[in-house]
Amino acid sequence: CGKWVVMVTAQTPTNIAVIKYWGKRHETLILPVNDSISVTLDPDHLCTTTTVAVSPAFDSDRMWLNGKEISLSGGRYQNCLREIRSRASDVEDKENGIKIAEKDWEKLHLHIASYNNFPTAAGLASSAAGFACLVFALAKLMNVKEDQSKLSAIARQGSGSACRSLYGGFVKWIMGKDEDGKDSLAVQLVDEKHWDDLVIIIAVVSSRQKETSSTTGMRESVETSLLLKHRAKEIVPKRILQMEGAIKNRDFASFAQLTCADSNQFHAVCLDTSPPIFYMNDTSHRIISIVEKWNRSEGTPQVAYTFDAGPNAVMIARNRKVATLLLQRLLFYFPPNSASDLNSYIVGDKSILK
Ligand code: PMV
Repeated sequence: CGKWVVMVTAQTPTNIAVIKYWGKRHETLILPVNDSISVTLDPDHLCTTTTVAVSPAFDSDRMWLNGKEISLSGGRYQNCLREIRSRASDVEDKENGIKIAEKDWEKLHLHIASYNNFPTAAGLASSAAGFACLVFALAKLMNVKEDQSKLSAIARQGSGSACRSLYGGFVKWIMGKDEDGKDSLAVQLVDEKHWDDLVIIIAVVSSRQKETSSTTGMRESVETSLLLKHRAKEIVPKRILQMEGAIKNRDFASFAQLTCADSNQFHAVCLDTSPPIFYMNDTSHRIISIVEKWNRSEGTPQVAYTFDAGPNAVMIARNRKVATLLLQRLLFYFPPNSASDLNSYIVGDKSILK
């Protein structure tokens, strides 16, 4: 009778790169110039919730992000929708007497509602959680029988970093060699239980949208930065191996040294771009100094920091005790309500706030 609706809801956390992806070798397929490694955050904090619905009553594909309708006409959405639709299979809901045959998916339209529980496009990797969640929810709705890695290669075509959010724990995005991008996908290095001493604290320095999108920034860096060429060819391949070792052995000293160095090199590439790109601000620089001084005074790193395409600081403490001390220090340097620079903290382990 054309009145039914079938819905699926999924929730996906964002991820933060500890070895950064910066630069594409193919813009449309989103193929990177180097491998990258990330940690997927706890789903309680920074995550996207997406509901996808299909019904013969819908006459076009539509999407709402945080309650506002957005256009689905962009290439990135279209690529993800096309790739998933082409893999759809029969779906049967016996209880409600609904049957969708494989061939029907091409004609049926979708409504998509997505919600981020954190600032969108402020360097907190909202597109990573968003596209990973969209692809995962659509794959469930359309009964797509592909493994997570294959789905990650589809999410990659929405936003590069999204491919890494299909897994928890530490994840590697393998850049791949194929021209069609089939081998540019994410694999899980270790799951979330492997190194569960770590506590992630995010200091939200600004929740404003960034001035230079990562797409524009990467394009300009690829075109103009000599440092990026050197980084992609000579530095990152070695760092990836060292980082994999540090994660496997839970070697916090090496992990922190590599994470901080890679974040700083990514921002150096941004400065080496013409015109230069500034994602960090004075508050970000102060946070780096505070953590660097602390690590040096202890003789061994206690906290790692990393910054994406925005001024917000992601700090990874070696354990809960250190995380508590870190939060105390941050509150001392940036007291709440002092009109100072920090808006809020998002803490990966709520118990340390008690
Ligand atoms: O996937 P995009 O286009 O949002 O780019 C993300 C780039 C960085 O966040 C800066 C680094 C990374 O590897 O996530």
